[in-house]
Amino acid sequence: MLANDTLLRALRREPTPHVPVWLMRQAGRYLPEYTALRARAGSFMALATDPSLAAEVTLQPLARFPLDAAILFSDILTVPDAMGLGLSFAEGEGPRFARRTDDERSINALTVPDPARLRYVFDAVREIKRALAGRVPLIGFAGSPFTLACYMIEGRGSADFAKVRRMAFARPELLERLVGVNADAVAQYLQEQVRAGADALMLFDTWGGLLSPSAYRRFSLAPMRTILARMPPGVPTIVFTKGAAASLPAIVDSGAACVGLDWTADLSAARRQFGERVAFQGNLDPLALLTDAASIERAAVELVAAAGPAPGYVFNVGHGIVPATPPDNVAALVQAVHAASHRGRRPTADAAAGEAVEVDEGG
Ligand code: CP3
Repeated sequence: MLANDTLLRALRREPTPHVPVWLMRQAGRYLPEYTALRARAGSFMALATDPSLAAEVTLQPLARFPLDAAILFSDILTVPDAMGLGLSFAEGEGPRFARRTDDERSINALTVPDPARLRYVFDAVREIKRALAGRVPLIGFAGSPFTLACYMIEGRGSADFAKVRRMAFARPELLERLVGVNADAVAQYLQEQVRAGADALMLFDTWGGLLSPSAYRRFSLAPMRTILARMPPGVPTIVFTKGAAASLPAIVDSGAACVGLDWTADLSAARRQFGERVAFQGNLDPLALLTDAASIERAAVELVAAAGPAPGYVFNVGHGIVPATPPDNVAALVQAVHAASHRGRRPTADAAAGEAVEVDEGG
């Protein structure tokens, strides 16, 4: 059904002719055509809430680079916005909520939003699927319950999310209630994205790594497991917690098909230890893209080698592409990953998979 299904195969740990590559924040401010379209639309939310503009932005990076997947253009904070928190993105600042949920009263008042309030997202998914016409799969996504809670409690971004971390000690049952409502809301949101046509799903847990390992399991991983258990079988899932390499054994057991790693994690060790149980995605430092084609190619070759030839690897950055990234460097990266993985897989993908079994048994 898809002309290029390498991403879905890799997520299922099936052999692929090359390592699939897509990049977190592949649509966004480093692309002049994105900045121009946002200026015309007036704001980020104007882009995100208009399905045909959201589809156009989603396809912008695919027009430039032979990426192996598209990711829905939207934001993780659409869900708390639909819960009535009043999201806005001020120019040059991060996200803001008009209302915070930082006490008993506001948290108890939260409910799972009516899916009609997020219809613009599901309409965008349908529009993107039409525009993609089966070229590559579409990744749907949501924020993790804990990462959403971070923004909901602070009402905005924060360097250390101190209020949230205090609440984990002072009012653990209250924080648990908040992430529980978020889990129900996100599960419903992702199910609707699948109904609209999303081929794979990713949970972005940007701030789970702020917690101690035991608090991470309780407030971030547990609600993610609840969500993952409710996803339709056959739709592969990716879970990404930034800064949580210490909790890797627990994350491997989350129920996700694939675990995303940030650039501080040891990809090679993760693959040796857990490569027979989950696929891995990652994990180039996005700042490598602020160098030059030769350095980028070297880094790509090194990472593809570290991942090894066994099936179940998706190349990505270890966190989002930064706005100062030259688009030509992204082109160099995508090309280098494909070239390096072709070299590593000759003569056939099956032979490469055979080699991989030996590597795993030795390790
Ligand atoms: O990856 C993609 O290309 C898909 C689109 C996408 C966006 N946000 C678009 C966006 C995705 C997957 C996200 C996820 C997201 N949003 C996360 C988790 C991933 C991560 O990077 O850790 C988080 C924490 C947010 C919340 C958020 N949205 C912040 C903090 C900001 C402002 C700062 C920033 O990074 O840009 C946004 C705005 C946002 N979301 C932009 C884009 C392209 C920039 C808005 C603009 O045009 O100015």
